[in-house]
Amino acid sequence: MAIHKFKVLLTHPIPEQWLSTLNNDVKLIIGPDEMMGLAPELYKYLPEVDGLISFLCDRINAEIIHHAPNIRVICNFAAGIDNIDLLACTAQKIPVGITPGVLTDATADLTMGLVLAVNRQLVQAAANARSGKWKMWYASRWLGMGLSGAILGVFGMGKIGCAVAKRAHAFGMNVIYTSRTPKPEYEITLNARQVAFQELLKTSDILSLHAPLTPETNKIMDANAFKLMKPTAILINTARGAEVDTEALFSALSNRQIAAAGLDVTDPEPLPASHPLYELPNCLILPHLGSATVGARKAMAAMTCENLLAGLRGEKLPYCANTEVYV
Ligand code: GLV
Repeated sequence: MAIHKFKVLLTHPIPEQWLSTLNNDVKLIIGPDEMMGLAPELYKYLPEVDGLISFLCDRINAEIIHHAPNIRVICNFAAGIDNIDLLACTAQKIPVGITPGVLTDATADLTMGLVLAVNRQLVQAAANARSGKWKMWYASRWLGMGLSGAILGVFGMGKIGCAVAKRAHAFGMNVIYTSRTPKPEYEITLNARQVAFQELLKTSDILSLHAPLTPETNKIMDANAFKLMKPTAILINTARGAEVDTEALFSALSNRQIAAAGLDVTDPEPLPASHPLYELPNCLILPHLGSATVGARKAMAAMTCENLLAGLRGEKLPYCANTEVYV
């Protein structure tokens, strides 16, 4: 007798072995690689699927949900949920799973990587050496700021913001931060001081974004914000691209209103190869690889599978973004 398996749409491939716990219960329909969003050829499966595994590059909106009337669970392979219309899911009583916590260290490590690479111009200097322009030991070229004693401003002192603050403290940096909730413990352990957003902008030598994308943080870094920053300051964004107004950033960097930027996330994402931001020598852009460690990605997959199986069986998701569906 054929065993009933749940049908689940996985919008893009991930290594099969990361999904091995699903084998007995789930038949996966797998979308293509190298493509943002839900591929057009996948729409025909929506009416028949019981579950969906999505990625942060997929926009899961009310229309998709409307076309999937049997769906019991949506699992986002990410800590954030800004790519999902959560209200629409909640209205249909669809629980949405996320993978919080397990990408904190990976993202914090990458943030420090960007701080170091941008501040010490590592990418440009390496390209310069490789191109044969390295002729001697230069006393006054490729200079950056010393991190010890410099001020790191953390916008959003959540899990990742705190992990970055700890790393920065170990580098001898002075940490200031904004947060919805005060974090007195970090005042003691990291000497970190909570400040207002304006002070964060005015005082930071390095300003690093770590808040989730919400209507309040959308384009929080606009032309007015850049005006308040020091001309020597560096902006780092490993949170969400839309927290920065891309045009305003381009002008701030071109006019040297701020010194440099390191971006792991952009708006739009991916940033097209023809975008003028790539031409600026003081802007380093990475292709959203904050959580790209083997450990973090395997842990994200494991949480996604746990969420998926729970949702398919009608049980509470262990890592749920809209627990209101259960009241
Ligand atoms: C990565 O950016 C995530 O939210 O998981």
